[in-house]
Formats: sequence, structure tokens, C-alpha cells
Amino acid sequence: MVTRIAVIPGDGIGVEVTREAVRVLEAAAEAYGLTLEMVHFDWGAEKYLREGITLPEGAVEMFQREYAAILAGAFGDPRVPDHRHAREILLGLRVQLDLFMNVRPVKLLDERLTPLKGRTPRDIDFVILRENTEGAYVDIGGVFRRGMVEEVAIQEEIATREGTERIIVAAFEYARRRGRRRVTLVDKSNVLRYGHGLWQRIFWTVAERYPEIEATHHYVDAMALRMVQDPAWCDVIVTTNMFGDILSDLGAALIGGLGLAPSGNIHPGRVSLFEPVHGTAPELAGKNVANPMGAILTAAMLLEHVGAEEAARAIERAVVATIRAGEVTRDLGGSLSTEEVGRAVAARVRARAS
Ligand code: IPM
Ligand code: MN
Repeated sequence: MVTRIAVIPGDGIGVEVTREAVRVLEAAAEAYGLTLEMVHFDWGAEKYLREGITLPEGAVEMFQREYAAILAGAFGDPRVPDHRHAREILLGLRVQLDLFMNVRPVKLLDERLTPLKGRTPRDIDFVILRENTEGAYVDIGGVFRRGMVEEVAIQEEIATREGTERIIVAAFEYARRRGRRRVTLVDKSNVLRYGHGLWQRIFWTVAERYPEIEATHHYVDAMALRMVQDPAWCDVIVTTNMFGDILSDLGAALIGGLGLAPSGNIHPGRVSLFEPVHGTAPELAGKNVANPMGAILTAAMLLEHVGAEEAARAIERAVVATIRAGEVTRDLGGSLSTEEVGRAVAARVRARAS
């Protein structure tokens, strides 16, 4: 059976790291007998500036009809200061494909990589499940009396019962399937009493259906503190769109930086979008120095989504072995190029030995 994957490298270092992720996917396909058909799309700043096109018409229907998954790099370019193309491509696909779970694992791969003293991979292995279709990301609001001293700006955050319930249920299901013991709701319900109050009410009701899983709650400020002081306590964190965005960057810092953090925008059973947590890093773009590990681990998450578990685990093992061997980019203290790291991981995957 052919698995069709759309590849959208995007802008900046997205292009370089995606090339290496594709290289590793090809190696995994060969070694594990998968038939992957990868189709590239040149959507990003360049195309937007040239043709005025961000997310082309019909793209969403095409993905739903013809693809199992999408691998994306990163979107953003200094020449597009209002980030219109990034918003329309990335946030557009999240919403229009209804990818309501943003799964962001925080897993330390080598103890030398964490800035936390004395912590090992056993202490840092948790996951942030970020609600991905509503919250503060709905672009609802406006300004009144623009430019006047009496100017007023309103920016809304929404929580629907359906949207909140499905991500909370997904978090408990995720914990149950993967044998994780604790789900923590992270919100700011002491201040945002209505929206986050709804999260509270739904969370404690859903939790009753999962008696084997410990349900806990932290306000987001306390969670940020605990992620640093006591990461071993963290297990499955479920939170709003914006808090998930912020905490996942903090999570990336715990495991060695943004260059290592993968993510998946998922609707179980449907075409889903996989992209590393990092951005386009314009100052590093085109220099062959960006760390491709986040993109490569993202490709492993993609393979898991399309049912290729064994190949996904093999990529993760190859990444760990490559890091252990010191075959890493400058951000991790090594001297290899983006491409050399990609080749090193691909070679280990192809050898089925790591
Ligand atoms: C992320 C990014 C995006 C977000 C930006 C680029 C809109 O920071 O995927 O974490 O805020 O979701
Ligand atoms: Mn972010």
C-alpha cells in the first residue's frame, strides 16, 4: 500500500531541515519496506511575494482526499512582517483540517543536553497536549478609535464545550494507551473564570471515566515553575492553545533547545500535519548549520501516525545514537552541518543498527 505524504518545507531553515527529514524517511522506507510517495509543495514566503498565494484554493480538500499526512518545515520571513502567509498556511491547515491535538513531546535524549543540573533522560519524559483550533488563536477582536489616545483594543479567547471536551478526552486516551499515569490540566481559571472555568468543569467530569489515571491541576504559572524544578513529576499535560505554545518552548529548553523539539498537529484517523516546534531562524537560513533533529523526530511522529511504528522507533533510536556519538550541529556543541547530521541519522536507520 502506498502512503502519500505532502511535504511543505516553507521558509528559512525549514527548507534545509525538511530536506534531511525526507532523507531519513527515505532511508526508513527502504529499511522497513514502506512505500512512501512524497510530493513537494513550494508554499511559503517566496510564493506569496511572487504570486500573492498563501494556502492555495482546494488545498484542504486535496489533502483530505489524497494524502495520509503532511510534513512541514517552518513558515515566517522578515519580508512578510505581518506573517500573513504563515498564519494562512499553518494556522489555516490546523483549523481547516480540524487538527485539534497538538502533540509536543518533551523527552530528553541525552543527559548532556539539558541545562538542568543532575537530570537524566529518566527525569524528563513528558508530553504537552495543546488544544489547537480555538483559544486565543481564533483572531476575533478589533480596535476602536485607532491611533487616538482613547484607543481600545479587544482580543478574544474562546472555549467551546465540544472543542474543550475532545482535547481533554484525547489526553486521557493518550495516557491510557501509552501507560502514562497522570494527566495535568493547566489553565488560569483563577483569573479567566469563564473560559477556563469551562475547562475545569469538563476536565473533572471526564477524569471520572479514567479512574486508573491520576487527574491533577496546575495554574500555568505554577506549571512553568514545576517543569523546571520537578520535571520528573510531569506526565501528560493538557492545556489551551496559547499556554501550550508557551510551555512547549520551555519544554524544548529542558531537552537541549528548539532544534530538538518535534510536534504533530493531529486529528486521529485523519490526514494530519507534522512540523518541528522551531521557527524559520532567518539568521541561520541557507548556511547548512541548522539542527535537523527536531524535523527528523517530527518525521518519526508522522510515521507513527500512518501506522509505521517500527520505522518510527528506529528513527528515534538512530537520533539518540547519533547524538551520543557527538555527530551534532553547533547548537549542541558539535561541528557537523545540517546535511551531515541528516546523513548520519539516515545511515543508522538504513543499517537497522543503532
Ligand atoms: C508554534 C508557532 C506558531 C504558534 C506560530 C508560528 C503562529 O509558534 O507552532 O508553536 O504560535 O502556534
Ligand atoms: Mn510556538
